[in-house]
Amino acid sequence: MKLSSLRHIFIAFICLSSQLSCGTAEECRDSMYPPKGPTFKGNVTWYTLNLDLPPSERWTHVIKEKKAELVAMIQAIKDLAGGFFHGKLIHLVDNELPLIVDTLPYPFNEEIKGLAAVSGVPLGEVVLFNIFYEIFTVCTSVVVEDLKGNIYHARNLDFGLFMGWDRKTHTWTITEKLKPLVVNVDFKRNNKTVFKSTSFAGYVGMLTGIRPKEFTLTVNERFSVDGGYIGILEWILGQRDGMWMSFLTRRVLENATSYEDAKNELAQTKLLAPAYFILGGNQTGQGCVITRTRINTLDIWEIALKLGRWYVLETNYDHWEEPFFLDDRRTPAMKCMNKITQANITLQTIYDVLSTKPVLNKLTTYTSLMEVSTVLYGKCSQPKICDISNIAPALKQKNATKHVIVFFFNFQLYLM
Ligand SMILES: *[C@@H]1O[C@H](CO)[C@@H](O)[C@H](O)[C@H]1NC(C)=O
Ligand SMILES: *[C@@H]1O[C@H](CO)[C@@H](O)[C@H](O)[C@H]1NC(C)=O
Ligand SMILES: *[C@@H]1O[C@H](CO)[C@@H](O)[C@H](O)[C@H]1NC(C)=O
Ligand SMILES: *[C@@H]1O[C@H](CO)[C@@H](O)[C@H](O)[C@H]1NC(C)=O
Ligand SMILES: *[C@@H]1O[C@H](CO)[C@@H](O)[C@H](O)[C@H]1NC(C)=O
Ligand SMILES: *[C@@H]1O[C@H](CO)[C@@H](O)[C@H](O)[C@H]1NC(C)=O
Repeated sequence: MKLSSLRHIFIAFICLSSQLSCGTAEECRDSMYPPKGPTFKGNVTWYTLNLDLPPSERWTHVIKEKKAELVAMIQAIKDLAGGFFHGKLIHLVDNELPLIVDTLPYPFNEEIKGLAAVSGVPLGEVVLFNIFYEIFTVCTSVVVEDLKGNIYHARNLDFGLFMGWDRKTHTWTITEKLKPLVVNVDFKRNNKTVFKSTSFAGYVGMLTGIRPKEFTLTVNERFSVDGGYIGILEWILGQRDGMWMSFLTRRVLENATSYEDAKNELAQTKLLAPAYFILGGNQTGQGCVITRTRINTLDIWEIALKLGRWYVLETNYDHWEEPFFLDDRRTPAMKCMNKITQANITLQTIYDVLSTKPVLNKLTTYTSLMEVSTVLYGKCSQPKICDISNIAPALKQKNATKHVIVFFFNFQLYLM
């Protein structure tokens, strides 16, 4: 059976058994910005990361502050995994995964070792935390051009499906544990900002980032038969010519110097897992979705004003195909974008789109709004990346009556 159809079955199963309102969209929201309400926990904290330090020392100050949250997160993963495999999985993680760390490319190997040393979390568990996202992240990303030629880029990062449904609070366990780990990081070299990112404390790859005045980048997972499990398995078995998705994203943010440069690298580097790279530039027309297989690029879909395409929006399905009907976040998001129109698009109105269910959902861990250009922008002029986590404004949900099985789908497949 195809992996994607397996996934569809599980989504359907979760929808039915938890009475989540999968597949139903609400009216487009408006006036959601700035974020407020009881579920808004405040602005995400900024940290500076000094790239001139040895990799093993770079994250020390972040981990010192976030250690308790990191330990709680990893404990939650262990609780889930322990229940499922009678503890065998964690034994494997603690004993086998540390061996992988030395095969990871520099500087990621050294940074991960440093994280383990400072946090006191076993090395294998930090490695697990760092390869987690290669496997199951569902997201919505959009790059937009307004009538003046300003480029905006925004995303919801949704994570934690199948990772423990809490029947009391009606939330996904891992998603909730991840929220306190969301941090904004300003990566500096010679005391100057190289790029900025919304990330998780303890995670060295990047999923969301901006090189101010140059480009913005997000990555969404792409499900495919030739998926991440196979790539990771090959890596473990010694075939290591592909690049980890989130490591490539970080390398591009750190070392590519223009939109074109970034686009070439994202399109041409061999990967461990298929992916969508969503890239925004600093000039009119510079916004694209790169649809990747592990080996090559299937398609580059760009903003094309002449064709009336003033934004490109990606969830987790190829843009030329219909999304799975129970997981259709694309249609409601596009409906709201089109309703706003290019004339009225701003970071605020994009935030409205990302706050509309089911684009916003119980897996949404953070929303990032990015503006690459030098044009100052209202409420989020300084710094020009405004990130909001813990948003979830009044997600109304029927009480779940049935039990959702905690299914460690991903790791099972990867261990097989
Ligand atoms: C969040 O940041 C914005 C802009 O930097 C500021 O105006 C606002 O007061 C902050 N909100 C909180 C709750 O700290
Ligand atoms: C970097 O900036 C800080 C504060 O602005 C300053 O104290 C420090 O000396 C600078 N370091 C270097 C290497 O220039
Ligand atoms: C970026 O380039 C520098 C200089 O070549 C190198 O030291 C660094 O490791 C690179 N960063 C990444 C993430 O590969
Ligand atoms: C856009 O990016 C290019 C390449 O990094 C840079 O040379 C140029 O100055 C940037 N343009 C603006 C308006 O910032
Ligand atoms: C833009 O927003 C304003 C104020 O909400 C509204 O009056 C106007 O009709 C909108 N324009 C378009 C083209 O939708
Ligand atoms: C949901 O559950 C809570 C507590 O378990 C209860 O107070 C509330 O009335 C329930 N809501 C509905 C709509 O059943």
